[in-house]
Amino acid sequence: MRVLVTGGAGYIGSHTVIQLIAAGQDVLIVDSFANAKPTVISRLEAITGKPLLVYAFDLRDTDKTEDLFAREQIDAVIHFAGHKAVGESVQKPLEYYENNLDSTLVLAGAMARHAVTKLVFSSSATVYGANAPVPMSEDLPTSATNPYGWTKVMIEQILRDVAVAQPEWRIALLRYFNPVGAHASGTIGEDPSDIPNNLVPYLSQVAVGRREKLQIFGDDYDTPDGTPLRDYIHVEDLAAGHIAALSKLATTESPVSTWNLGTGVGTSVLDVLHAFERAVGRALPYEIVGRRAGDIAASYADPHRAHAELGWTATRTIDDMCADSWRWQSQNPNGYPDA
Ligand code: UD1
Repeated sequence: MRVLVTGGAGYIGSHTVIQLIAAGQDVLIVDSFANAKPTVISRLEAITGKPLLVYAFDLRDTDKTEDLFAREQIDAVIHFAGHKAVGESVQKPLEYYENNLDSTLVLAGAMARHAVTKLVFSSSATVYGANAPVPMSEDLPTSATNPYGWTKVMIEQILRDVAVAQPEWRIALLRYFNPVGAHASGTIGEDPSDIPNNLVPYLSQVAVGRREKLQIFGDDYDTPDGTPLRDYIHVEDLAAGHIAALSKLATTESPVSTWNLGTGVGTSVLDVLHAFERAVGRALPYEIVGRRAGDIAASYADPHRAHAELGWTATRTIDDMCADSWRWQSQNPNGYPDA
């Protein structure tokens, strides 16, 4: 099968490309490189031992997207491309709606015209909104607390509508919990372009000496140690979930399927700090500060549906995740080089 991976140079996309190739699929990448470095591609080629076919353009460019589908044989699409910073989305809502919605509309339009009907979409547990009970199951109503989250809710709805109009489509909406970790080689990983907002990238930069200390946003939540619980999932387990979802689309009768990709385990911020300290082999500086606006006490998956329907389960522990994140960060203290 020939799979188009949008955002294939990004954090989750790059790890998924490796597993697709390992599973014998033929891969094609499209990435704007607005938030990814070209070096990713040479590192992917070193890991996979294969030259990669890469188109460097923005999916919102309708002519280029149309041309790509006219030129290439494509059997399925995994759509990772999109803006993903929550705080930035609050500052620049129009940019987020325009980028994430337009790119998906252009992509889906080209797919429809060229009869490509298998699509795996990167959604997020953020679609469960602010007041969802844990563990979170796929049947909960969706909502959001910021423009980034709303783009995920809206795109899910758009794709459901496409599947009503064209029931031959097979669409997977994958709701990720908190992806962390890196490839075991330490040569690809998460490389935030700015000050990291997310916990593990920030902690990694503290450990490598780029930031002074971790600020823990609140220890007065109603949780065992007072810090919020999240469902951290190794990016390799997450990538494996995409391979499983893609193969399920070949046999399922449902035009749209929704699957949580999480471990089902809630891990506190202090637990993550201590796991990271074990990976690094020393204590890391931190301070407790006030809560961050918009944070919730607990978010973790009910992962049973993905297990039952995809035969997929996350297997890596928080110690595995921190060890792999640290290998990546210590080998690449400043992330990917520019060249
Ligand atoms: C965040 C987004 C979510 C997005 C996800 C992508 C918010 C409110 N939510 O999830 O929509 O899908 O990233 O991975 O931004 N923490 C600290 N200090 C830090 C950073 C984080 O204490 O410097 C804490 C947070 O309070 C939270 C936990 O660590 O309890 C995880 O935070 P983060 O990695 O940002 O993920 P989420 O907030 O769960």
